[in-house]
Amino acid sequence: MLQIKNLHASVEDKDILKGINLEIKAGEVHAIMGPNGAGKSTLSSIIAGNENYEVSQGEIFLDGEEISELAPEERAHKGVFLSFQYPVEIPGVSVTNFIKTAINESRKANGKEEMPANEMLKLIREKSELLEMDRKFLSRSLNEGFSGGEKKRNEIFQMAMLEPKIAILDETDSGLDIDALRIVANGVNKLKNENNAVLVITHYQRLLEYIVPDYVHVLMDGKIVKTGGADLALELEEKGYDWIKNELV
Ligand SMILES: Nc1ncnc2c1ncn2[C@@H]1O[C@H](COP(=O)(O)OP(=O)(O)OP(=O)(O)O)[C@@H](O)[C@H]1O
Ligand SMILES: [Mg+2]
Repeated sequence: MLQIKNLHASVEDKDILKGINLEIKAGEVHAIMGPNGAGKSTLSSIIAGNENYEVSQGEIFLDGEEISELAPEERAHKGVFLSFQYPVEIPGVSVTNFIKTAINESRKANGKEEMPANEMLKLIREKSELLEMDRKFLSRSLNEGFSGGEKKRNEIFQMAMLEPKIAILDETDSGLDIDALRIVANGVNKLKNENNAVLVITHYQRLLEYIVPDYVHVLMDGKIVKTGGADLALELEEKGYDWIKNELV
């Protein structure tokens, strides 16, 4: 589904990603962990098409198609979804209107008609219930005055509505209370199927108790230095990252 080959990237002449190789197959959940500043958010931004980074080498494929040259919207239309570590506010645009527009733009780009209003309403109802969202919340301006946890939950709502092929969740767990964490994780689990894949970036093993990864990768200093199963997250929680550094030298 998603294939990354030898990805090198920099920003203002500072090398951040130094040869990332990653393959995520349909139906899989991958987690990336790693110290602050390792390049995790940079990697997710680059997959989504953020143009602030200079990609000097490497390729990104989605279902076998090279997407490295595509604009962020085009990638989104092809099924790449990124939840941000720091979501933006859009005053005057409601949660509902934002998602309606996003869905219809995506349908248009894929040669489909707009979604009929009743179908859209039904979908919104279904997905907001899945995520146990308050009705009133849906008419508020996007992210304006949202608490940290509300922003995160709204992102998962957007993901639920858009049904991406690959969903990248960058620290979706940070700032969520215990109930919200469970709700969000359940939402992700319910949305997962054999035709999509999830990449979760997290600092804590806790989220991975709910969203159980098939693979855990450790990203350090711009490289994936270790890959393991779900147990690796437990080991990291217990031992930190230093032992990996020592293993490498
Ligand atoms: N626009 C930018 N300008 C300058 N430096 C940047 C920029 N974007 C990223 N960096 C640097 O690249 C490195 C990797 O940042 P990144 O946000 O990818 O780390 P991260 O692994 O997501 O860390 P965290 O766990 O703290 O979220 C950091 O040293 C950061 O300061
Ligand atoms: Mg980050």
